[in-house]
Amino acid sequence: MIGEVERLRVELGERAYEILVGPRLIERAGREILPLLRRRQVVTVSDETVARHYLAELHRSLDQAGIVHHTVLLPPGEETKDLDHFGRLAEEILGFGIERGTMLVALGGGVVGDVTGFAAATLLRGIDFAQIPTTLLAQVDSSVGGKTGINTRIGKNLIGAFYQPRLVLADTDTLTSLPRRELLAGYAEIVKYGLIRDAEFFAWCERQGNALCALEPDPVRHAVMTSCRMKAAIVADDEREEGDRALLNFGHTFGHALETETGFTNRLLHGEAVALGMLLAFDFAVRLGLVAAPEAERVRRHFENTGLPTRLEAVGLTDPPADRLITHMSKDKKVRDGRLTLILPRCVGDAFVMKDAPLDALREFLAEAA
Ligand SMILES: NC(=O)c1ccc[n+]([C@@H]2O[C@H](COP(=O)([O-])OP(=O)(O)OC[C@H]3O[C@@H](n4cnc5c(N)ncnc54)[C@H](O)[C@@H]3O)[C@@H](O)[C@H]2O)c1
Repeated sequence: MIGEVERLRVELGERAYEILVGPRLIERAGREILPLLRRRQVVTVSDETVARHYLAELHRSLDQAGIVHHTVLLPPGEETKDLDHFGRLAEEILGFGIERGTMLVALGGGVVGDVTGFAAATLLRGIDFAQIPTTLLAQVDSSVGGKTGINTRIGKNLIGAFYQPRLVLADTDTLTSLPRRELLAGYAEIVKYGLIRDAEFFAWCERQGNALCALEPDPVRHAVMTSCRMKAAIVADDEREEGDRALLNFGHTFGHALETETGFTNRLLHGEAVALGMLLAFDFAVRLGLVAAPEAERVRRHFENTGLPTRLEAVGLTDPPADRLITHMSKDKKVRDGRLTLILPRCVGDAFVMKDAPLDALREFLAEAA
């Protein structure tokens, strides 16, 4: 621990990297990035909203470290993760005359991180990149683990690569400018770690969730570190999602179906969809007799207490037909041989992969839930 900054290593052999968590990290980004550079040139990719807040500070820090930098700004929002935007981004970056030793720096939320990571994975057959995540969701989830990608009209994240960053700088000061709704959406991913693996951590969330969402520094740092530590351990064991990494998709198959239903718009943020998806997973597990009903109630109560969505109607999803939701779920990447895989809980703190979810029971359940 240096000052208030904590460091954590993702153990992936020659692709291992550090995650730094704490305040004022953008201010020292140049110093942290410099030793990793093979050429003193970086291209920063950000979105217009994030750039307004933090780009000047990042540029100052890169200047101080003597690093030559160029910038590409993208429009904010999920729409940016499409092939058109990606094509333009790739050509703009190449237009700077980059070489294999150039590094890309993603300054922004999960959208910027996913697109920039995919550009790094593919341009010149692979160049280095660093992540400076500025949303809570990106700090606790998307910036760690090396999943990169873009959306297609057929589905979300269907083009992509596993490609690890060289460094992650999670500057917790950036969370102060984040809209509360975005903050809560990221909080859902924090709770997820407790629900799938660590009942103690879920109990900590019950005690400290509101302090965290009020951005008290100690709870924020603890939650970001704990989440990154858990994700790093899971990724180190199963980088390409052949086993336990799938647990991180808890709530996501249900959630993606809801996002597809709302057209991936602002009506339902990714983290909100995951929150609703986790509750659906609990309720479905109760229906299958896998979980005791009070466990599901406990989770619902916590979501209510922190302001996470708990009802489909609250996000304008009145009456989505069960069949359509199942069709959306079947298009998820977690489908193998036409069988629907779901991550379901046994209790708070313990989830498992169900490889062949019973479709009739699921249809009946969704018809009542919707
Ligand atoms: N790669 C992975 O492992 C992984 C994991 C989870 C989610 N994701 C992806 O992440 C994306 C969602 O990420 P997100 O929730 O960070 O959304 P986002 O990147 O769209 O950011 C949300 C909004 O907040 C704004 N913003 C970002 N930082 C800000 C700040 N500090 N202050 C003020 N405004 C700020 C952005 O401009 C944007 O409008 C989805 O595309 C999802 O598929 C990827």
